[in-house]
Amino acid sequence: MNSVNDVTRCLHRPDVSRQGYASLAVSVERASTIPFPSGEAYAQRKQRGPDGYSYGLAGTPTTRVLEAQIAALEGADRAVLTPSGLSAVTLAMLACLRPGDRVLIPDTVYPPVRDFASGHLGPFGVTVAYYDPTLGAGINALMDDRTRLVWVESPGSSTFEVQDLPAIASAAHVRGALVGCDNSWATPLFHKPLRLGADLVVEALTKFISGHSDVLMGSIAAHDPAIHDRIRATAKTLGIGVSPDDCALVLRGIETLPVRLARSASTGAELMEFLAARPEIETILHPSRPDAVGGCFWSRDFRGAPGVFGATFRQPYADRITPALAALRLFAIGASWGGTRSLVAPMPIAPFRTATRWQGSEPVLRISAGLEDPEDLLADLEAFLRALHAAPSSQELATGEPAMVADAERRRLK
Ligand SMILES: Cc1ncc(COP(=O)(O)O)c(C=O)c1O
Repeated sequence: MNSVNDVTRCLHRPDVSRQGYASLAVSVERASTIPFPSGEAYAQRKQRGPDGYSYGLAGTPTTRVLEAQIAALEGADRAVLTPSGLSAVTLAMLACLRPGDRVLIPDTVYPPVRDFASGHLGPFGVTVAYYDPTLGAGINALMDDRTRLVWVESPGSSTFEVQDLPAIASAAHVRGALVGCDNSWATPLFHKPLRLGADLVVEALTKFISGHSDVLMGSIAAHDPAIHDRIRATAKTLGIGVSPDDCALVLRGIETLPVRLARSASTGAELMEFLAARPEIETILHPSRPDAVGGCFWSRDFRGAPGVFGATFRQPYADRITPALAALRLFAIGASWGGTRSLVAPMPIAPFRTATRWQGSEPVLRISAGLEDPEDLLADLEAFLRALHAAPSSQELATGEPAMVADAERRRLK
């Protein structure tokens, strides 16, 4: 392009050779506009199909690599990417449900899904019913002819009950309903819901799969091309797409997913062991624990368990959790989990239960074991537990009266 002026030259990059070039790194292909070689090709762009390239919103080669990577890990044919884990759940539900339909959702579902169900599904004419996550084949009793979707989240958010997915899927399929499963905790490395009867599987790629607390993304994978097409068409209608830069971050995260998961699992096991022996602790909530709700389904259906778990506390310590978190130096306090850094968050439970009653104490302290040295994390938890003996509870602050902690226990902790 010798005959143009510099202003134009600034906009038209010279071609360079790619011969001999290769890289092990993920290449980032960004685009909104995808230029066509001719007016005729542009007019016929729909013929390229949903997996072809015609506009950046529907994906670039970087997007396609991540879609294919997720599909391969899930044992699915194809996958759709969404801008967050929550949007993967809501898109899956929107694609499967129509006015007049009914959806069954486990009582232990990720709480923002409840807001979506009451704020959007309900007003759009979908009936939402919550069910006890310990129901297996018994879910049949809750199904009716309008039930088009049974949602599963296994283990459940914050309280970690494992569901009998194969039994639920069989019961749902007999009645002609689809089954969707949120698999964010286990990731496809530890659990493959599509092999156990789910029709679609959702991952919050934000968590372990991207793994560095710096990107938000979700995925939906399905076997059946008709289900996949419905999800992709719904995403297109809603204008949902993801950034190729973020896809590259997720692809990079996936390369280390097996080692990060293994490390989180072993560190988590150490932290759980330590906490379970402490007098302040009421229960440890994790599918691998001997008293886990649905633990037999975890042993049967899962290949491992990452170190994300809940802990409930006896009184007066349960009331003191929030101020005592100030003693933590290594654990960050915040939402999400599955990153390189260990994380804690106190989670209220009872306000998000409508089909069952939460019997444990509140809040559940959700702990996500990261990649730090476990010894340092144990020391950090030790400092937190010590602070539980010092921090006044909200009730104590209100009444001005300190709760009694047994002297012997105080001495033991010094
Ligand atoms: C089980 C589960 N599913 C989905 C999500 C939503 O993921 P995101 O934060 O990417 O929206 C979360 C977030 O904590 C979650 O715990």
